[in-house]
Amino acid sequence: MRVLKSPDAVQALCLSFREAGKTIALVPTMGVLHEGHLSLIKAAKKNADKVIVSIFVNPSQFGPSEDFESYPRTFDADKEKCKRAGVDIIFAPMSDNMYSEDFSVWVDEDKLSTNLCGARRPGHFKGVCTVVLKLFMICQPNVAVFGKKDAQQALIIRRMARDLNIPVKIIITPVVREKDGLAVSSRNRYLTPAEREQATIIYKGLQQVKEWRKEDLSVAQIRKKLLKFIQQAHDARIDYVTIVDEKTLKEENKPYPGQSLLIAVAVFFGKARLIDNISFKW
Ligand code: PAJ
Repeated sequence: MRVLKSPDAVQALCLSFREAGKTIALVPTMGVLHEGHLSLIKAAKKNADKVIVSIFVNPSQFGPSEDFESYPRTFDADKEKCKRAGVDIIFAPMSDNMYSEDFSVWVDEDKLSTNLCGARRPGHFKGVCTVVLKLFMICQPNVAVFGKKDAQQALIIRRMARDLNIPVKIIITPVVREKDGLAVSSRNRYLTPAEREQATIIYKGLQQVKEWRKEDLSVAQIRKKLLKFIQQAHDARIDYVTIVDEKTLKEENKPYPGQSLLIAVAVFFGKARLIDNISFKW
């Protein structure tokens, strides 16, 4: 396994792989690798000859009051995990190598980004799209793997690939969860033991939706029930609880039978902002 910091070196290497007829899968991450990331790497290995994991805490996707500075960095442990998972290259650039002082070209998706996390984190998806497109140009992947855990992000990247004719196949893999249902996340380590225990309410609530649907409740009633259910946890502060069309991410009040919906939530527990979602056919 090679660890490279220079975008130019990675680009040259990847172009040489492509010339030699090898396929490349990219797994973009911000490090602190866990089972969720490892499931993406597994999917990447199945879909290409060479696997690149990028590890870069991208400053442009963090808001001024967010956790960029305190975002955990565990490079040595990440390296070990990548090695064991059979990764070929880790691309771990420095911020200066990704953003020159007078950096001035951005990618901004303006429909799917207006709701959910996009509405609460202005500029977040502009930072994500820009860095992911840069990673695509540097790593020249045939496929790139994203997690359904960040459902909005994955959909936006797929839209970016479609709308900008980027020849990269976007693979989206299922949410990996702890035994008690909590979605695995780098931010779970911010939770105190008491908050960690309470955080299981998120997935329990999402699971309840199927039961509430059997009671023939409307979307608005289900949304309200889910909100109340999560609020039972003493330390939960709801950022959003929403039910949207799975393709457009627009709020849906009167779905048609069989419509694919996404039930998505963001909840603060102490310092940690946790997101989760389930897909649901009405
Ligand atoms: P990061 O939060 O490190 O996540 C990297 C990838 O891992 C994302 O595609 C995310 O959806 C996936 N992932 C995280 N937790 C997961 C889980 N429990 N189950 C399945 N997949 C999971 O998302 C980012 O980094 C950044 O925004 C990035 C795309 C790298 C751009 O900077």
